[in-house]
This record gives sequence, C-alpha cells and structure tokens, in this order.
Amino acid sequence: MKGQVWGYFCSMVLVLLMITGCLATDREKDSIQNDEETVQEQTTTDFITVGFSQVGAESDWRTANSESMKEAFSEENGYELIFDDAQQKQENQIRAIRNFIEQEVDYIVLAPVTETGWDSVLQEAKEAEIPVIIVDRMVNVSDESLYTAWVGSDFLKEGYVAADWLADYLDRKGRTDETIYMVTIQGTMGSSAQIGRTNGITERMKDHPNWIMMERIAGDYTEAKAREVMEYFLEQYSEIDVVICENDNEAFGAIDAIKAAGKTSGPNGDIIVISFDAVSAAFDAMIAGDLNLSVECNPLHGPRVAEIIQKLESNEVVEKTQYVMEDYFDTTMNLIDIKNNRLY
Ligand code: AHR
Repeated sequence: MKGQVWGYFCSMVLVLLMITGCLATDREKDSIQNDEETVQEQTTTDFITVGFSQVGAESDWRTANSESMKEAFSEENGYELIFDDAQQKQENQIRAIRNFIEQEVDYIVLAPVTETGWDSVLQEAKEAEIPVIIVDRMVNVSDESLYTAWVGSDFLKEGYVAADWLADYLDRKGRTDETIYMVTIQGTMGSSAQIGRTNGITERMKDHPNWIMMERIAGDYTEAKAREVMEYFLEQYSEIDVVICENDNEAFGAIDAIKAAGKTSGPNGDIIVISFDAVSAAFDAMIAGDLNLSVECNPLHGPRVAEIIQKLESNEVVEKTQYVMEDYFDTTMNLIDIKNNRLY
C-alpha cells in the first residue's frame, strides 16, 4: 500500500514537471521567434532595393552583364535586387519601370534597349523621387535631370577603333589602294551600341573612298539572325572582302554561314571578320583563325553601378557620365594568355 502511494506521488510530480517544462519550452520558443522576427525586420528594412530592367539575354555579353549585376546587388552586399528581363522589348522595360515605381524601390537601374522613348516613364520615376541610373546604352531624353547618372561604353570610339584597325591591317597586307567590298550586320536598330559603331565606321570611311559598303542589315545582336543575314549577303554578293558584325554573337553566326557557303574567314581566309565585345568565345574564334578582330565592350558594370549607389547613399556627388576604358584584340596577340586572365 505504502509503495502504491509513493508510486502515485512520483507520477504526479512527473506530470507537473512535464507541464511546467512544456510551458517553459513554449515561452522560450516564443521568445526565440520574436527575436528572429525582429532580426528579420531589421535586415529587410536595411536592404537597399534596386529594380533593374535588363534588355534581354541576346548575347554572351548580355549574360556576363546580368551576372555582374546580380553579383554586385546580392543580399550579402546589402541589396534586394528585382531583376526584370525585357526580352529586347521597350514596352516590357516601360512596364517593369512602372512596377518598380509602384513597389517604391530605392533605385531604378535601366539598361535601355534603344535610345528614344523614355521621357514619360522617367518623368514618372522622377515624380516618385526614385533616382534612375542608366547603364550600358544611353537614353536620349529632352531633360537630362530625368536620370541621375550613366555608365557604359564609348560606342562611337569602338567604331573608330574597328575602322582604324582595318586601315592598318589592309596596309600591312599591301591592299591600301584596293577596292574593298564590305557588308555590315548591325545590332538592334536605334540602340546606342548600333548607332555608335555604325557612325564610327561611316565617319572613318570618308578617309577611304575605296571602301565600298554594299549593304547593312540588322542582326539584332543574335547569332541566329546574323547567320540568316550573312547567308543572304553571300547569295547577293560574290565579292565580299569584309563583314562587320556589331557584336561577337553576330560574328559567330556570320562565320557559320561563311563556312556553310564553302568559304573561309579570318587572317588566312577569304573574308575579314570584325566584331565587338571581346567575350571569351570570340577569343576562341580568333585562336581558331576564324575571326580577325574583336573590339572590347566591357559588360562588368555591376560594381560600377553599385559604387554610384553607395555614393548617393552617402550624399556624395556622382559623375553624370562615366565611360569605361576598353581595348581591342586581334590574332597578332598572345590570345591564350589574355583570355586566361579575363573574367568574361
Ligand atoms: O549594348 C551592348 C551590346 O549589347 C553588346 O555589344 C551586345 O553584345 C549586347 O547585346
């Protein structure tokens, strides 16, 4: 009997201990959860929110550019990035910017597909007091205060570099006075990269009246479209000496078409191929002897835009226009070593 009472007493104590234990655990749990919520709240409010409207994913250059932006605007770096791929359509970019305004982001970053058509939507961003940073291509707006800063390439200079390289190359080959028949696969019409590169070459052609530009057609910076354009050029013109491709991916498409037509390209081939960007695969094409020249266009804008935002955060004055330093690469150089030291 004594044993039974003792057993009953022990069970009661155990039940009480379990109840108080559970209560303590629940209280602890609540407190941990509250702590977590507070930390989360603090972290969320500390992030700088950036809405980035990207042109699309049309080229290797664009992929490298998107990666650079995503890396720079990571959560570890204190940002919340809202990335929007516009699939090369301006109406998608305008829609994305309006969404960013609605979401009250801290900054809008725009890589514009073409130069014109931005006044209204940038005015809306200005009225919402959201600073806009333009990256890569430029915008052509009536009021420069519609954006805070621009960072990108000097596309006109890239065109000059390509034309000057060609003049020098033909000179070295003893072809200075020869009639040179050319065709161009242009980029997206109305984009700064297309306008600058086309104009740079056109201006320099005035110094070379023996250079004949037979036709220019847009290849939209894509390999597939450029291949079609080159196939057409090869059917139309038997005497092509030079094809200017307004980016590397267009050059890859053009080279494919040249090979399919039973012709060759590059320093020892029938057709001189010139392109822009200097992405990793362009180095491979030069090393393989298919491509003559790639004029660099640097896509690593993420850290540059982040620097502008950091300066604005500390109320520092930022430069309105920032050009990136760029080079060019041809088959006379030590391309394997250069390629191995590049980031894209
Ligand atoms: O605006 C930069 C250009 O856009 C690059 O040359 C091209 O590859 C990209 O799509």
